[in-house]
Amino acid sequence: MSGRVAGKKIFITGAAQGLGLAMAQACAAEGAKVALADINAAGADDRATAINDKYGAGTAFAYALDVTNEDHWVKALEAANGAMGGISGLVNNAGISSREGGIEELSLEGFRKLMSVNVDSVFLGAKHGIKYLAKNQPGSIVNVSSIAGLIANHTSPGYNASKAAVWLLSKNIALYCAKKGLDVRSNSIHPTFIDTPILDPIRNMFGKDEAEAKLGRQVPLGRIGKPEEVAQAALYLLSDESRFVTGAELKIDGGISAM
Ligand SMILES: NC(=O)c1ccc[n+]([C@@H]2O[C@H](COP(=O)([O-])OP(=O)(O)OC[C@H]3O[C@@H](n4cnc5c(N)ncnc54)[C@H](O)[C@@H]3O)[C@@H](O)[C@H]2O)c1
Repeated sequence: MSGRVAGKKIFITGAAQGLGLAMAQACAAEGAKVALADINAAGADDRATAINDKYGAGTAFAYALDVTNEDHWVKALEAANGAMGGISGLVNNAGISSREGGIEELSLEGFRKLMSVNVDSVFLGAKHGIKYLAKNQPGSIVNVSSIAGLIANHTSPGYNASKAAVWLLSKNIALYCAKKGLDVRSNSIHPTFIDTPILDPIRNMFGKDEAEAKLGRQVPLGRIGKPEEVAQAALYLLSDESRFVTGAELKIDGGISAM
């Protein structure tokens, strides 16, 4: 089998739509087996079926997973390990944003929800996933942070804090694996506005065209990004092309952080 991730077995959270789905499709196209895990189990199932229709039965598998639930993680990883014959890549992609308001408006419950889905997920994924990656070296963990984990604004305290936590947790995991002598890398990716359903609240506020134009004007390259453009970055980090890259952050932001 040929392809940039040929023979890899990659577990991706939040893969029923958006960036996770684009990554699953890109990995399958480049020769990997993929496990699509999502709280939207029916969606993950449908997308896995479509990938199998395109690339052959046994390419994609689907799992119900709430990334905040430790029990779910243990079961989904074990099942995916059995189905794919191992796990060599883990993408902690599932995440949420919300209309938070400023720090005085956001409820503690809202803050905890963001931290739980965006950060507990990465903690649990690595905590329970590393043992599988260790058996399938070289292994790679890709954690989806955001440019909002590196640059703050005045209205997203929970999103800013949670994505910043993902950034440094990725480095912690990288050093932990290296110290253990494992050929398991951990890196974070930091997209800016990308065309997925996560932008729907903004589209609903201003209308699709106006919302995307408004967001695009904030980006030096003049537009929002495409899911495939983020998937290509994940593909690089999941492939052996990045064998010496760990503890790094890869910005896919059209230049926004250069300003
Ligand atoms: N699209 C962007 O503009 C953008 C920019 C920067 C970072 N990100 C990050 O990229 C990741 C993916 O975002 P997206 O744009 O594809 O969003 P999306 O809303 O389109 O998709 C998120 C997926 O995660 C799943 N999910 C949500 N909560 C879950 C849970 N508790 N357990 C399991 N699955 C759950 C959803 O069902 C959905 O399939 C997120 O971490 C997000 O913060 C997105």
